Amino acid sequence: MPGLKELAYVVYEASDLDAWEHFGVKLLGMQTGERTQNGVTLRNDEKAYRWVITKGPADDLVASGYEVDSDAALDNIVAKLRAAGFQTTLGDASLAAARKVARIVVTADPMGNRVELVTHFANAPTPFRSEILAGQFLTGACGAGHQFILTKEVPQQDAVNFYCDLLGFRISDRIVEEIAPGIVADAMFLHCNPRHHTIALGQIPHPKKTHHFMLQVTDRQDVGYAWERCLKAGQPIEMTLGSHPNDQMLSFYVKTPSGFAVEYGWGGLLIEDDSTWEVKTFNQLNNWGHFDPAQELAWLQQGLAKTNAA
Ligand SMILES: [Fe+2]
Repeated sequence: MPGLKELAYVVYEASDLDAWEHFGVKLLGMQTGERTQNGVTLRNDEKAYRWVITKGPADDLVASGYEVDSDAALDNIVAKLRAAGFQTTLGDASLAAARKVARIVVTADPMGNRVELVTHFANAPTPFRSEILAGQFLTGACGAGHQFILTKEVPQQDAVNFYCDLLGFRISDRIVEEIAPGIVADAMFLHCNPRHHTIALGQIPHPKKTHHFMLQVTDRQDVGYAWERCLKAGQPIEMTLGSHPNDQMLSFYVKTPSGFAVEYGWGGLLIEDDSTWEVKTFNQLNNWGHFDPAQELAWLQQGLAKTNAA
């Protein structure tokens, strides 16, 4: 289906560039693209970059770049956005050059998140090489990964309408679970290519604009290796190893130096054929695991106490 192809890149503003570069390269297995005083880019495949980390105090998501497969498709999306009352601005040549794209149009989603629609996102001049991965990151037609965007006080349906009706995403499924008395997590999962979801739009209590970015690896062992690297580095863990019932991803969540998380996963479901895909609603976020580390530690300590008492 012509139109929006993939999540090409994300832009984060972070107070500690060194920590981000170390986190991305040494713990996650990404590769530095370009490093300056004011920013660092990180790669996870042949593309010029996938994450732009710019120096600043926000420690949050600044922009998301989505690649569109043709000029005509971009014009069509822009026309729909304008007809629906969304402002669009054509990015100038310097922004296009900085992002390494041919054309760039900037708009904002109903939450106010900056959305950049681009064409011809460039490859890097050199092949991707991870210092530590056994396999590769799963990208290609599936794009950079997926991200969970918080809908905050915006009605979830407004956010879904923006991404589906205007940008061209399709609904994958939904999860609604009461995670604590009176607190309901409600997430809609949307796809634009075979990756089960490229965006999740959710209402969960969280201080940032984004809950996490998901990096998927092709070798299951790389999830274990990354888990061990993060544990040994003392990197704060958001959620321990576990699995989701909808995309069936085996993953853990580690906090970035900016406080939101990276989901590091393997085995996520692909949606190959929309005509046979059935949209379901699940009532639990996790099949197993994905525990708060404090809970998991308490269980480990209980077991340890029994071992020591024996
Ligand atoms: Fe995720």
